[in-house]
Amino acid sequence: MTQDIHGASASAAAAAGTGTGGWWRNAVIYQVYVRSFADGNGDGVGDLPGVRDRLPYLAGLGVDALWITPFYRSPMADFGYDVADYREVDPRFGTLDDARALIADAHAHGLRIILDLVPNHTSDAHAWFRAALAAAPGSPERARYLFRDGRGAGGAEPPNDWESVFGGPAWTRVPGGQWYLHLFDPAQPDLNWDDAAVRAEFEAVLRFWLDLGADGFRIDVAHGMVKAAGLPDVGRAGQTRMLGTAVLPYFDQDGVHEIHRSWRALLDTYAGERIGVAEAWAPTAERLARYTRPDELHQAFNFHYLTAPWDAHGMRAVIEESLRTAAAVSAPATWVLSNHDVQRHVTRYGGGAEGLRRARAAALLTLALPGSAYVYQGEELGLPEVLDLPAEVLQDPQRRRGEGEGRDGCRVPLPWSGEEPPFGFGTGGTTWLPIPPAWRDRTVAAQDADPDSTLALYRNALRVRRGHPALGDGPLRWLVGPPGTLMFVREPGGPDGAGGAGTPAGRSVGCAVNMGDRTVQIAAFGAPLLASGPVRAAGGRIELAPGTAVWWEVA
Ligand code: GLC
Repeated sequence: MTQDIHGASASAAAAAGTGTGGWWRNAVIYQVYVRSFADGNGDGVGDLPGVRDRLPYLAGLGVDALWITPFYRSPMADFGYDVADYREVDPRFGTLDDARALIADAHAHGLRIILDLVPNHTSDAHAWFRAALAAAPGSPERARYLFRDGRGAGGAEPPNDWESVFGGPAWTRVPGGQWYLHLFDPAQPDLNWDDAAVRAEFEAVLRFWLDLGADGFRIDVAHGMVKAAGLPDVGRAGQTRMLGTAVLPYFDQDGVHEIHRSWRALLDTYAGERIGVAEAWAPTAERLARYTRPDELHQAFNFHYLTAPWDAHGMRAVIEESLRTAAAVSAPATWVLSNHDVQRHVTRYGGGAEGLRRARAAALLTLALPGSAYVYQGEELGLPEVLDLPAEVLQDPQRRRGEGEGRDGCRVPLPWSGEEPPFGFGTGGTTWLPIPPAWRDRTVAAQDADPDSTLALYRNALRVRRGHPALGDGPLRWLVGPPGTLMFVREPGGPDGAGGAGTPAGRSVGCAVNMGDRTVQIAAFGAPLLASGPVRAAGGRIELAPGTAVWWEVA
């Protein structure tokens, strides 16, 4: 299959949507954490040729686009989120030619490619930071970062009280006495976005990858680039949480929006609807929506949905709030359950058989909601968090600096085939984190032919979603369901709710999710299309066990 991603097909995708926008309003975007996806050269670390080999799998899954985590040259202090050269591919991940080939092949499979841009900080191995260290205080080289004199006698105390997201002070002192800011690891110095050279460089980097065919960017820490003038103290505990309740002097400052506006203008000069997606941990849904105003980015990750517990009441509140705030800025809502920074949702929802049951139901909920959805690699296999990794194999800097459990457990390499590790991950015998032997029944090969597997559920849901005019972007109408159950219907038609059952395509899709602890009976207004577990349909009713979701179609 070939598809002209940057030409005619984009408008075809728009036509298939609501008519108010393009492919990204409905898209299902699959997150590839490169290091852990597939290893093409046998060194135990995933790479670009590995991703390229598996494009048929991804196209067959039925997603629309891939978001690929950073593969640029990096010392890997934060596994690629510490970039030493924004225009080079790290040799561990491949070459620039591999990146070109991956983009071209993905397009040939009808898949768009979203790259990961890391603008809040560079690596301490970036030429700019090296030059800054070699230069004097007050120099233009130091002005690209946030160097300050310390407080107290001899400047021996950090310039303010900010803490790193990974734990400890957000400041490190350099020989000569000044301190530099790093909201993350000391190996990730924060850039100074008031510096014109910084802005110009990132515009050039965007153009570099857009010219190579990238369909857009996920913007790392999109809420962090601008810091409050004077770098004031926070003065209270709990300040470094990514998702807090307050605007912090280093997160969600109004000034970041001007940067996003300039990038939107740049993206719009390219054909094919190239998009920007904010990784912004904004304190409220309202503030998050500001990142997707019509002249800013196209989408923002919905971490309020991701962090909502398994509870119908709370979940409905988050969904309603997300839809309301996204609609207020004419953006599509987005839905995400897992990524490379959080505990996998099978485990978050209780783990074991119950966690998996709920995760499968959550997949049907997520893919039935209006807007765009994200799938984190391995969730389509029902993978849980690996909680028992031995201490000596842990590698996440967050863990090393003593903050929380660390993120290794959601980054374990994917099991592809075979009866024992490395489960076809690569041609070598090793993987950079060990794969649990118990994953032999979770491999792609093991699930491939099983109609009841989680992989089959995702494939079916994505196929139905793609073909159904009622799913993707558009209106949602809540139905009154039994206690503990979310129930709604999706009707084909514009965002104003026009169309509905009378439109030519004419069919609506209902979705019910039982988040309670008792089996419920729901009135089904049509035949079940798809269910996340066994359901019984009889006499116009569907019996739904706890942790189960169903889609039905209304003729
Ligand atoms: C984002 C990334 C995370 C990284 C951090 C610093 O939150 O998703 O993996 O550690 O930014 O770049």
